[in-house]
Amino acid sequence: MLDWTDRHCRYFMRLMSRHARLYTEMVTAPAVLFGNKDLLLKFDASEHPVACQLGGSDPEDLAKAAAAAAQYGYDEINLNCGCPSERVQKGAFGACLMLEPGLVAKCFAAMREASALPVTIKHRIGVDHQDDYDFVQNFVGTLYEAGCRDFIVHVRTAFLKGLSPRENRDVPSLKPDYAYRLKKDFPLAQFCINGGITTLEACRDFLETGLDGVMVGRAAYHEPWLLSRVDHELFGEPPSTLTRLDVVHAMTQYLHRIAPEHENAVRNAARHTMGLMNGLSGARLWRRTLSDPRAYKEAGADVLELALSSMLQAAPAAADDLSAPPHP
Ligand SMILES: Cc1cc2nc3c(=O)[nH]c(=O)nc-3n(C[C@H](O)[C@H](O)[C@H](O)COP(=O)(O)O)c2cc1C
Repeated sequence: MLDWTDRHCRYFMRLMSRHARLYTEMVTAPAVLFGNKDLLLKFDASEHPVACQLGGSDPEDLAKAAAAAAQYGYDEINLNCGCPSERVQKGAFGACLMLEPGLVAKCFAAMREASALPVTIKHRIGVDHQDDYDFVQNFVGTLYEAGCRDFIVHVRTAFLKGLSPRENRDVPSLKPDYAYRLKKDFPLAQFCINGGITTLEACRDFLETGLDGVMVGRAAYHEPWLLSRVDHELFGEPPSTLTRLDVVHAMTQYLHRIAPEHENAVRNAARHTMGLMNGLSGARLWRRTLSDPRAYKEAGADVLELALSSMLQAAPAAADDLSAPPHP
């Protein structure tokens, strides 16, 4: 997710789940080809399994970008066919690619040829008023013919005109039945459902009723502690003994490590932990400290410890929750 799932965010999320697959922000193929590759593609070894999402519509550029991403050690390359923003439309990629399944198939084939990694497609179920099932079935079918077996389906139509990207994530209605129909029509392909999933119970329901994966976006970002239950509840690992305090201490070590990189590095990384304390008394103080530029001046890489002590001063009773493992 652009501006959200950067390497700092992924490092933080990985502290809470070993198994959830993490995705980069969308990186455009031209940016990879002509920009600072290290800045765009480098990531921490702890982030695996991690997928690099590419944006673009030129098969040759995408192939080169996929090869570059593979060299950095990603586990999957994903092509964005779901973003409806105007900027992306001007570049003729994102959701408008759903109108050109033949071109997407060429992009897919070129990317697959260029690297040994699995290439997956993230797409919507329709574009503007082309939203009957046949439209997405034809899109997926064309890619299936080209050899694609992994699809992430954001089960909403994208409106290229009239809705902002934000509205495009909420206004078009969710149609999970489309994902089930795709699975029925292409049983040998994997379908991961995305859109509006906010609980692990909902994730489990989708997995138990025939879908192959669930992708959780905003809920995982806003309520990151949710991730601490994923390995146990969705991957069958023993219950986690991790606590929020463990996460704060591990992130503090990380902030010390990255602080010398850039004057705003600590702030850029710490902002992703804003939701960690949601649901606990004193959480407001945690968020307020992390939003206050003075806190970074005062505490530097220890800003999370400062936020913690502000929180505990206001709500000493939160101490028990901070050292409690995730609830079942
Ligand atoms: C801030 C933000 C940035 C996003 N950036 C991307 C992106 O770069 N690539 C992408 O495929 N989807 C992007 N999305 C869409 C999400 O991946 C997801 O499809 C959408 O939010 C619906 O899932 P959710 O209800 O679980 O959040 C973004 C969403 C948000 C909120």
